[in-house]
Amino acid sequence: MKKLLDVKKLHVTFSSRGEVLHAVRGLDFSLYESEIVGIVGESGCGKSAALKALTQLNPRHTTLTEGNILYEEQDLLSYSERQMRKIRGKEIGMIFQDPMTSLNPTMKIGEQIMEGYLQHFPKAGRKKAKQRALELLHDVGIPDPEERFDAYPHTLSGGMRQRVMIALALACEPKILLADEPTTALDVTIQAQILRLLKKLQETTKISILLITHDMSVVANLCDRVLVMYAGKIVENTTSSLLFSSPQHPYTKKLLAAIPKLDQPKTQRLLSIEGRPPHLTHAFLGCGFCSRCDEAMGICQKEDPPLFEPHEKHFSACFKHDPRCLP
Ligand SMILES: Nc1ncnc2c1ncn2[C@@H]1O[C@H](COP(=O)(O)OP(=O)(O)OP(=O)(O)O)[C@@H](O)[C@H]1O
Ligand SMILES: [Mg+2]
Repeated sequence: MKKLLDVKKLHVTFSSRGEVLHAVRGLDFSLYESEIVGIVGESGCGKSAALKALTQLNPRHTTLTEGNILYEEQDLLSYSERQMRKIRGKEIGMIFQDPMTSLNPTMKIGEQIMEGYLQHFPKAGRKKAKQRALELLHDVGIPDPEERFDAYPHTLSGGMRQRVMIALALACEPKILLADEPTTALDVTIQAQILRLLKKLQETTKISILLITHDMSVVANLCDRVLVMYAGKIVENTTSSLLFSSPQHPYTKKLLAAIPKLDQPKTQRLLSIEGRPPHLTHAFLGCGFCSRCDEAMGICQKEDPPLFEPHEKHFSACFKHDPRCLP
């Protein structure tokens, strides 16, 4: 499989009102062709900041982004805003939680898709663009595309708007789709429909998808691989089947134990992970999870664990895999 994206030592630091916040602290990961990779982790662990960094969408003046984001052997971090505009939409499409932030409320949905398409294929002409827009509306499951072409976003349901946003993101046939909790605002049945749609699109177009979700069942049903983030770092990176069958990092284990089970007695309290992640405004020594970890050792308070590979292609940032610490 071809490697599409190679992210190395990605750091994202925000400065606002005299405070410096180190939101993403050295991410290393790759995205391969035709792969769906999930990103999970507690609120505030840097998922959105990392995803936005890939297309330089964090606020320019208050964000420092460091590292390498290699796309087709070019480092996107060295690109100017003008160069990035050619990448966004055309090479890397994006969908977010709330479609209304991405859709123009004053423009008919068909026109918006046409405009997105023509921005990157200006020579195609309006006729071809309209044909493409209708095709896309059909592909994302909008009934009566000809009729809906002239609808304004506010006249559509939340699920339909999310479909339009997916159509818009796919208009220029990007190779990568970044999706930040695309179904969180939708009710459960519509969520399932949208996720099925993403899976179908991935199968038919071979697009690669990087998907932030807080829902482990989405990871189980949709993702080939998963990155578990904690306090601005990836603490586990493996296939989704191995994540569920043999989680390695103590944080992942607690995250999985916190999922409600259907057969759980109603009186049993849901397990939430005790304690808090470290403040990312302060530098700290050691592993960010160690104060909440049942398996912590002396070294965990002193050194920051790198990603170890306890099993082939299964990475976990915990000293229990370090040969120095093995019993
Ligand atoms: N533009 C910004 N300026 C300053 N701080 C920011 C900015 N964006 C995010 N942050 C901070 O960076 C940290 C990581 O935020 P991020 O939005 O990436 O978290 P997340 O993992 O996506 O959380 P959630 O699951 O709640 O969406 C948080 O402490 C957040 O307050
Ligand atoms: Mg987020």
